Amino acid sequence: MRLDAGISVRCIDRLYRLRRHASRSRQHEDRSKEQADVTAGARRYRLPLLASALLLCGVIAWRVLILPAPLAFAGGHQVELAAYPGRNPTGVPPELDGADVVTRGKYLTEAADCMACHTAKGGHPFAGGRPFKLPFGTLYTPNITPDRETGIGAWNDMHFLRAVHEGISRDGTRLYPAFPYASYSLMPDADVLAIRRYLETIPAVRLANRPNSFGFPYNQRWLMAVWSGFFNPGKPFRPIAERSAQWNRGAYLVEGPTHCGECHTPRNLAQAMDTRNKFAGGVAEGWNAYNITSDRDSGIGDWKPSEIAAYLKSGHAHGRGVASGPMAEAVELSFSKLTPSDVAAIANYLRTIPARRTNDTPKAAGPAPGQPSLGAGYSGNGARIFADACSGCHAWNGAGAMVGEAQLSGNRAVNDATAANVALMILQGAGTPGTPRRFMPSFRQSYSDKEIADVANYVTARFGSKPSTVSAKHVGELRHE
Ligand code: HEC
Ligand code: HEC
Ligand code: HEC
Repeated sequence: MRLDAGISVRCIDRLYRLRRHASRSRQHEDRSKEQADVTAGARRYRLPLLASALLLCGVIAWRVLILPAPLAFAGGHQVELAAYPGRNPTGVPPELDGADVVTRGKYLTEAADCMACHTAKGGHPFAGGRPFKLPFGTLYTPNITPDRETGIGAWNDMHFLRAVHEGISRDGTRLYPAFPYASYSLMPDADVLAIRRYLETIPAVRLANRPNSFGFPYNQRWLMAVWSGFFNPGKPFRPIAERSAQWNRGAYLVEGPTHCGECHTPRNLAQAMDTRNKFAGGVAEGWNAYNITSDRDSGIGDWKPSEIAAYLKSGHAHGRGVASGPMAEAVELSFSKLTPSDVAAIANYLRTIPARRTNDTPKAAGPAPGQPSLGAGYSGNGARIFADACSGCHAWNGAGAMVGEAQLSGNRAVNDATAANVALMILQGAGTPGTPRRFMPSFRQSYSDKEIADVANYVTARFGSKPSTVSAKHVGELRHE
């Protein structure tokens, strides 16, 4: 029995061990099966996951890198200039048909506003040195007077064409697209060379170019070759056969020489004009260059063509507002010098740009009450400063005391929820010095950043449809623009 018992104990023990072993190996089997399942699962999903990731990257790259051509929105067939049956939309307007090449070149130089960028404050025209502050440093424009050593006097026509069309300097260095060659590449050789003939007649100025202050990797100019490959259309303007001669003339001027989109079109990740949101609003030297699509609330869809023309010619459209900052400069040096037929062509073309609604530019509010104590937020610092420094010229209802240019209600700047342009006008002043009707002094010295933010926020709350919350910090940044 004892033996039996001993055997049976051993038996049980063995059986037990066998069971444990079996169950352990089963567990092991289960675990490796699980693992195999997981691996098979992962393998099953790895491919689709990889494919989706690649697809996502592809879509993002495609959205950023492949943009619609400037006239893609218009449909129709683009034809070579020679094949277009109407008047040639490039060159000069009919008023200048018989003019010599230098006169035509001067007109095109003004239309392209070469002088604005290539002249420093108080400096010689076209001698360069104007700073452009970019997020990664400051870029200075070069001297394009006929000086042989410091200007472009020693360049031949081919060098000049390559610079204006492709953004390549005489020595082969790539130029940054702050020089709007992506727009200028639409100008045919004849127009660019007419500009060259005019530039040869201006006084040569000896002034060396200032180097930019970019650090690595932004100082790698060769990268601009890649940029140009994607974003410079690089082909001269081709009219749309189905459209009128006036429409094509407007398209040529707006997309090419006058380069409205360089300021008014938002930029994408690669700093290229996002032509999917053509003219939906961009930024120029700290100023908001507003939505000029045909949206009725956010854009200029309810401006009459005559109002657009008046704004471009004189910098003021009654009841719509005045042009300030970079737009005032473009009006003064460029758009005011265009012939009436060209201004009409621009206004007509702008109306055909597809409407885009934007959040920061809501429908403009109507006039404010005439009583100071009525209306939005009549209290605090902002109201006090407005009473002291602004109400005399602008009136409490915003209609402007005496002159239409001083009307505040209804204009875009006071209906812009960022209030950046209002703050900049207070800092820099507005209008043309020496013309009392159109002059607003600068308050840079009189008020602190906080006071300017307070009065700007008061102005948008009282006269606009959406009160702004511009901060003293932002005003401080704008002070250095
Ligand atoms: C929006 C501002 C702007 C406008 C408008 C502009 N330029 Fe420029 N241009 C620049 C900047 C900035 C550079 C220098 C870019 C760089 O250093 O990479 C430049 C460079 C040049 C160069 C190359 C000079 C050199 O030494 O390499 C030429 C030539 C030139 N511009 C001619 C013109 C002409 C002609 C026009 C009018 C049709 C014009 N620019 C309009 C900003 C402008
Ligand atoms: C150098 C940059 C720049 C260029 C180029 C430029 N604009 Fe502007 N534009 C601006 C800025 C900035 C404003 C806002 C000015 C203000 O608030 O007073 C503006 C305002 C306007 C407005 C008024 C919008 C509103 O709602 O009040 C119109 C219309 C306009 N631009 C049309 C044009 C057209 C058309 C062209 C080309 C022919 C053009 N702009 C070229 C910068 C530019
Ligand atoms: C001496 C008279 C005067 C004073 C003082 C004055 N402004 Fe102006 N303001 C004007 C005139 C005139 C214009 C139109 C300028 C032009 O024609 O470009 C203007 C334009 C403006 C604009 C732009 C309007 C538009 O259509 O885009 C704003 C915003 C503005 N002023 C705000 C202010 C604020 C805020 C103050 C007080 C801190 C102030 N102004 C003080 C005369 C004045």
